[in-house]
Amino acid sequence: MNNIAKKFFMALSQNETLNTTAKKWGPHLGAEKVVAGTTIPETITSIKKLNAYGISCTVDNLGEFVSEKNEAVKAKEQIISMIEAIHYNHVDAHISLKPSQLGLDIDFDFCLNNLTEIVAKAAEYDIFVNFDMEDHPRLQPSFDILDEITKTYSNVGTVIQAYFFRAVEDIKQYKDLRLRIVKGAYKESENVAFQTKEEIDDNYLRLIEWHLLYGKFTSIATHDHHVINHVKQFVEEHDISRDKFEFQMLYGFREDMQHGLAEEGYNFCTYVPFGDDWYGYFMRRLAERPQNLNLMFRQVFNKRTNTVIGLVAGAFVLGRLSKRNKKDKE
Ligand code: FDA
Repeated sequence: MNNIAKKFFMALSQNETLNTTAKKWGPHLGAEKVVAGTTIPETITSIKKLNAYGISCTVDNLGEFVSEKNEAVKAKEQIISMIEAIHYNHVDAHISLKPSQLGLDIDFDFCLNNLTEIVAKAAEYDIFVNFDMEDHPRLQPSFDILDEITKTYSNVGTVIQAYFFRAVEDIKQYKDLRLRIVKGAYKESENVAFQTKEEIDDNYLRLIEWHLLYGKFTSIATHDHHVINHVKQFVEEHDISRDKFEFQMLYGFREDMQHGLAEEGYNFCTYVPFGDDWYGYFMRRLAERPQNLNLMFRQVFNKRTNTVIGLVAGAFVLGRLSKRNKKDKE
């Protein structure tokens, strides 16, 4: 059942028609709970509320897998406007971005130029920029862009995804950067990535421990309290200073725990997505982990949205069945 739910939401996340329709609607179906705003001023207001709890923010202009140059340029301009808004509003926030939103799938040099422009603007204001990591085909090109940019700028870092076999090498290569360590959110092949929860969790802890001991600054990005408790104990035992790491969670998830960790005196950073391109992000959150799916249902779904989801799920299953029937007949 978990796998069906996962496949269902992953398939929905890639549906272009639903994505286009969703953009026109604005965040719905519970997405409004996990998206901090559709405009920059709304998002700045959300950031100020988090800052008031002593929580810093990493801000993501929603959107990815862009295939038209004008869309990538629009995204770049929006991110630069957000950098200016962060600076002029004196909020405690930095930028997270997805290379595929800035043209990675279109042309390497075009994407490199867009990212360089963003990083240069952020450097003017001493604002950090994190390159989020996407799926495996985009991994090496993203690292290649990072390598080019770090020749000139030091206000950049990236993400290590623990499900990849290569993560253990990547973390060593990039140990002098501020790194966010995550389990990994995309569906990856068994040729490149661990598939079981146990293997991913084991590698996750191993990478976190290594980077806490030998790396520059570690962002531990997880909603998993087992991992968080393990890290708390590990840093205590190894006398690792609290200014060498932070915990990160996504906006709208486990808010009590976010506030609690900040109150306990740990550095805490919330990942704050904004904009109208919420659909793919939201569906991936639902697909990501069955536990999150259940929690989302409990937290934000009411009778009306359950009916909508039920209808969409029904249409999806019928669509799959009729495709299979057609294939059988051919
Ligand atoms: P996971 O989903 O594995 O759950 C483990 C356990 O934690 C559950 O069994 C449950 O007990 C508890 N739990 C989880 N969620 C809960 C909730 N909402 N409420 C209560 N309990 C809960 N991925 C990627 O590929 N590239 C990237 O750049 C990023 N960036 C990123 C930034 C940030 C800030 C975060 C938090 C995550 C990412 N990710 C990501 C996503 C990441 O790779 C991963 O898919 C998700 O965080 C889900 O894994 P978790 O470690 O959160 O817990």
